[in-house]
Amino acid sequence: MTRAASMLIESTDVLQDAETVFERVFRTDFTQPGFAVLVLPAAMGSHDLRHSMKLLKERLSALHAERWSEPLEYLSLGRFDQQATTRLHLDGAPERSFLMLGYEPTPVCSDFHIADYSRCAHDLGITPADFLQKHNPMFSAGAEMLRDYLITISDWQESRPRIVVINNGMAEPGTSGATHGVLHGATILSPDSQASRVINSTMIAPACFATCDPAMHVQQFVSTDEISGQILS
Ligand SMILES: [Fe+2]
Repeated sequence: MTRAASMLIESTDVLQDAETVFERVFRTDFTQPGFAVLVLPAAMGSHDLRHSMKLLKERLSALHAERWSEPLEYLSLGRFDQQATTRLHLDGAPERSFLMLGYEPTPVCSDFHIADYSRCAHDLGITPADFLQKHNPMFSAGAEMLRDYLITISDWQESRPRIVVINNGMAEPGTSGATHGVLHGATILSPDSQASRVINSTMIAPACFATCDPAMHVQQFVSTDEISGQILS
């Protein structure tokens, strides 16, 4: 297991860091980690955090279109206040999909886990989909196989807003537009029912997977003060 505080990117302007995020997340080999964490200025408020997520998504979409001739669209947008510990998993989404999470400052500390299951599958000579079917990491034996492919980020500046972008893909390597996904999970170290831990959550994917026009939902996502769960799903 790697403990990797050095994975954090200090960012004052998400657009300046968009190419670095793109390189790390939209990877076609295993020299990159498959995820990126931007640590934003402490004074940035919730609306500005969500606006930054929107700007970053638009820039990543343009970079994706340059590379694979297809923009990225939202599949879901939501805001949640949650302190659940989650085992390593992919979120339910198309085989090419990317999770962008905006974490608001919180006193509730957590460890953030990423497992490079695509690289593990590659080393075993099987596809990522086969890996998940045969070695589901929700069970201990599967999680054990990922031990050498695991990165845990502790003490990840939780008093500041952060944007995390995760390659949630499972596409067969070599197929059109395929990039290498990773699993994610979190361990809440000391849950506190009096404190909040707000996560602004979006799932994005190449336009061919989108089913509706998200423009109105995006505006609502950026401007709302409610933490009511799903805005678009
Ligand atoms: Fe998840």
